[in-house]
Formats: sequence, structure tokens, C-alpha cells
Amino acid sequence: MELMDVVKKKRNGEKIVMITAYDFTQSSIAAEAGVDLILVGDSLSMVIQGNGSTIPVSMKQMLYHTEIAVRGAGDVPVVADMPFLSYQTDISSAIRNAGNLLKVGAKAVKIEGNFSKLTESLVSIGIPVMGHLGLTPQSVNQLGGYHLQGKDDMSAKRLIKDAKQLESAGAFSIVLEAVPSHVAKEISESISIPTIGIGAGINCDGQVLVYHDLLGLFDGFKPKFVKRYANLKQIAIKAIKDYSLEVKSGKFPDNEHSWS
Ligand code: KIV
Repeated sequence: MELMDVVKKKRNGEKIVMITAYDFTQSSIAAEAGVDLILVGDSLSMVIQGNGSTIPVSMKQMLYHTEIAVRGAGDVPVVADMPFLSYQTDISSAIRNAGNLLKVGAKAVKIEGNFSKLTESLVSIGIPVMGHLGLTPQSVNQLGGYHLQGKDDMSAKRLIKDAKQLESAGAFSIVLEAVPSHVAKEISESISIPTIGIGAGINCDGQVLVYHDLLGLFDGFKPKFVKRYANLKQIAIKAIKDYSLEVKSGKFPDNEHSWS
């Protein structure tokens, strides 16, 4: 699968499936399950590193996680998030940071907000860009929390304008996070590139969920838009408790798991 095959899915009316993954094991499981795109999200700051927001994760850490996730992704294209402060200061350091994500195997980078000038520069040198509008978690301090965006007419119009500008700048796709379904529908119908929704309703051209949320590995706060398709945290706790009981009672290792 190439990025352009993903883009074609919109024209063919096929939904796009994206999931985050942050290492070899996770991306190989996602690839085996047949997803269209893998995102090495800066959400790793929260679900892998245990931080309270996506702001602390560094460029060096994103490069490391992208490199190890690419190893398990097979032919599923990997998109890597540009972390906070890796693209906002100046275009040349943004180009270098994005290029380094491609050097470790990402096929595209994702950038929060309407950075259409930067998007144009990256695309002009062969770096595909996925936009990210609506709730942009790197701006949590300015937004005053993780709230629904585009609720009133003015902010909805702004989102539509931003999406059109990113499309004109050459972005191949746009993530829409936490926006009302009718706004996501209007955006999706106003641009020819696919929208990938998270908390943006059914009318997006595709969906993305965070690996740990979908599998129930992270059972702290659960936003309204998260659907848990499994409860792997509880399964893991039970398995480790069983192991622990068997070690303590002398049942493990038995003959099957030992050399005589
Ligand atoms: O970092 C991330 O996981 C993301 C998705 C929520 C879209 O940006």
C-alpha cells in the first residue's frame, strides 16, 4: 500500500482505517490486522511515557519510536507526528526534523494546526504532509483543555477555511479531532483529500484511534469518542497474577518448560 492508494480510497468511497502504534510489536499487530495507515502519534507521550500531555515528547524520542514502529509495519505506510517545537520555530529546522523522520522510515509527517506555508515547503521537497485540525493537543494550554472544537459558526467556518488551505498547500490528508459530526461532514465534502476523524463522527473519510484506547490497555480517562474493542489490561493483569501464583506454589516451571 502506498500513500496515494490511501488517498484514492476517498474517490472510491472506501473508508480509511488508521491506528497509532509506537513500537515493533504494536505495528506488526496492526499491520497483520490489515489497517491502511499506522500513526506514530505524539500521544506516546501519554500512553507510553506516562506524561499528562503530548508536550514533553522530544524529536529524538519520536525518531526512536518511528524507527522501531516502521520495523513491524511491513508495507503499511507509517505517518510520524512532528512533536511540539519541532516545526513551529523556523522552516529550516522543521524541514530537517521532518526529513529525519523520513530517514528512519516514515512515509509522511503529521503537523497540528494550519501550517500551510510549511506544508508547501515540505511537499515541494518530497515530504508528504498530513494535517491535523480541530482539537490540536499540543495547544492544550491555549485551548484550556481537551474540548470539542468548531462548535459555533465562526470557528466551524475557520476550520473549513484551514482545511481548504492545507489542501491547496499539498497536504494528502487531514486528521479532524473532536469536532461536531456536521462540521466534519462539511469539511469532508469541501475538500478532495481524505479526512481521518477521531471524535469527529461518521462522515469522515476514515477513522483513527489510539492503540492503547482501542485495546483497553489504558483505562484512565476515556473520552466520549473512544470505543474499547478489548480489555487487554485486565487480561494482562490476570495472566501475570496466574504466573505469580504458579511461581509461588512451585507449579512453574513444570517438566514441559524445563530440561531434565
Ligand atoms: O498523537 C496521536 O495519537 C494523534 C491522534 C489522536 C490523531 O494525533
